[in-house]
This record gives sequence, structure tokens and C-alpha cells, in this order.
Amino acid sequence: MLLDTKPVSYMIGNGALDMSEKGLLKYPRIIMLVDENVEKHCLPVFRAHLPDVKIDHVITIKSGERGKNLEQSIHIWDELTRLQVDRDALFLNLGGGVVTDIGGFTASTYKRGIPFINFPTTLLGMADAAIGGKTGIDYGAYKNQVGLFVDPVSVIIDPIFLNTLEDHQWQSGFAEVMKYGLIMDRDLWSILSGQDYHQLEDWDKIITKAARDKIDIVHHDALEKGMRKNLNFGHTIGHAIESYYLMHDKPITHGQAIAAGMICETWISSKIFDIECTQTDEIVEMIDLNFEKFDISEATIPELLDLMRQDKKVREGQLKFSLIRKIGKATHDIEVNMDMVVDSIKYYINRNSVH
Ligand code: GLY
Repeated sequence: MLLDTKPVSYMIGNGALDMSEKGLLKYPRIIMLVDENVEKHCLPVFRAHLPDVKIDHVITIKSGERGKNLEQSIHIWDELTRLQVDRDALFLNLGGGVVTDIGGFTASTYKRGIPFINFPTTLLGMADAAIGGKTGIDYGAYKNQVGLFVDPVSVIIDPIFLNTLEDHQWQSGFAEVMKYGLIMDRDLWSILSGQDYHQLEDWDKIITKAARDKIDIVHHDALEKGMRKNLNFGHTIGHAIESYYLMHDKPITHGQAIAAGMICETWISSKIFDIECTQTDEIVEMIDLNFEKFDISEATIPELLDLMRQDKKVREGQLKFSLIRKIGKATHDIEVNMDMVVDSIKYYINRNSVH
């Protein structure tokens, strides 16, 4: 985006992996980034489908959020330097959100930027992280504290990789998929509502809809000045919960944290906008059906508020929320006072879930 205004090309749906071959064969040299899990489970699928695509070198980082830091970035830059990679090469990110975030960041800072392509392998990556040019790493206790907006050359989304996922990875991505239903896609919400994600079958359709929703948003607002902020629904409180557990050495998945955040922020939405009670009940029941409730105590609330004040969504000391006006319609930059934020977390803590 900052360096290259060419539009990103997308291939989405069954067969996308095979169709990507022609584009890949144009590059004289390909360096691939994977994590340990992807190397074991997805790289063999990639190689089996694209036997003619020569991968010059595979760089492997640690799996999970702990792989998205400065130490791992240095490892990648060291490898690129050792291999004498130049700007004609392609950096291919095969993996979930951690790989596409750190891979995009390291590729676009190495020698002022080499082209990269994202092949997301997780539901979270396919529906969200691989699309939209956000790259970066965690720094200190804060997620995505250092990074930049740079688009990949292409994003190739093939549901074939979903067969390799563990249950917690499905669940993590499912929170983001639900979010598209809530913020902009009533039709997607109707497909999902009332369903346990284990029972859903038509993932090709679900992923295609979610990915298209994200592409639509970033097409209109790449740099998050306006409507892209709607994607932050559930994330202001959710990120604080995620950072809290990371700091206390009990990391939880992004999806678990965002699901909890969406319950709190649905509650805030219902207080600020006139949402029908049946809709708020439907949302909370759907999240409870798919996500276990956390055992957070009220004593953690001050620490959660401190974490929220560090959030990138804070402007001039004021917390700005992305909220929903009804299912399928979001709005952003809504000022919410701290008392209401505290009450929303108390609502989360004190309600009875179905789990
Ligand atoms: N994951 C939120 C965004 O891409 O803006």
C-alpha cells in the first residue's frame, strides 16, 4: 500500500492452491516462511499440489503467538541475509495469522521490501489476518505494537488446509467469521446462527463470504481511517483480555478473547443503541454455544482497563469503540465511558452461560 499501489490479486475457494502455480513459476527464487506445525501438516499438502514450484529455502519459526516477536524477526532477516536474497525473490508466507503477520513485516522491511504472497492455512488467516496488509509483531506486553501496512502481491485462500487444523484453531477463527455476520453480513449470520461450528459443513461458502467481506472493507478503507474500524468490534475489550492472559503466562486463543469481548461489546451496544432484546439474546447465546466462559474475577478489571488504555484504538485518552446498531450493521468511533466498560465486564463475569 505505501510502496506499491498495484491491486492485490485474490484466489479464493476450492482449487485456489492449484491455480496459483502459474503466478509462482514467474519468480526466479522463492523463500518460504512456515511455523513448526505448518511445516509438519501443511507443507506436504503444498508440495503435493505444486510439485513444479521450486522452493529455494524454507524458514521455520516457532508456532503460536510467541513466534511473533523481534527475536523471530531477527532470525528471518539473518536467514535472508545469509541466503543473499535480493528483491527479485518472492517471500511466500504459508501459515496462520502469526506467519502472515511476521512474514509480511520481515519481508517488507528486508532491503526496504521484497514481494510476498500469503497462503493462509487457518480459518483465522483465511477470514481475516492474511487480507488487508496489516503486518507486524508483538512488542513487550502489547500485541501488534510494531508493524506497518503493506499489501501482499496476492492472497491464495484454499480451504484444503482446514483439514489440518486442530479444534482450538477452528474455534479461534470462528469468532472472526461470526464477527462479519454481526458487523456487515446478515446473510452470513443467518447461515451461522444457532449452529455449533463443529456441525457446519459448507466451509467453502462460509470462507468465501467472510473473505469477500474483509476484502470489501479494506478496499474502501485500507489504512483504517473509517469503516475498517468496524472490524474492531469485540476487540477493544477482547485484546485486553488476550494481553492479560499472555502477561500472566496463560495464553488463550485470539478467538476465545474476541468472543468474550463481543459479549461485553454487544452489551455496551445494547445500552447505547436501541437493539432488540431478541437480537442481543441471540448473539450471546450463539457465542455461549461455541465458546466456554472464562473465569475472570472482578479483581482483574483495573488491569484490563490499563491494558485498554494502551490500545491503538485510544485517541487523546478517550476509548473509542466499534459497536453494532443491530445484527449486520456496525458503527465506529463511539466514545464509551469507563463506568460502562466496567459494567460490561461485570455483566460478562456474572451472567450464567450455557456451558
Ligand atoms: N483484523 C482487523 C483488520 O484487519 O483491520
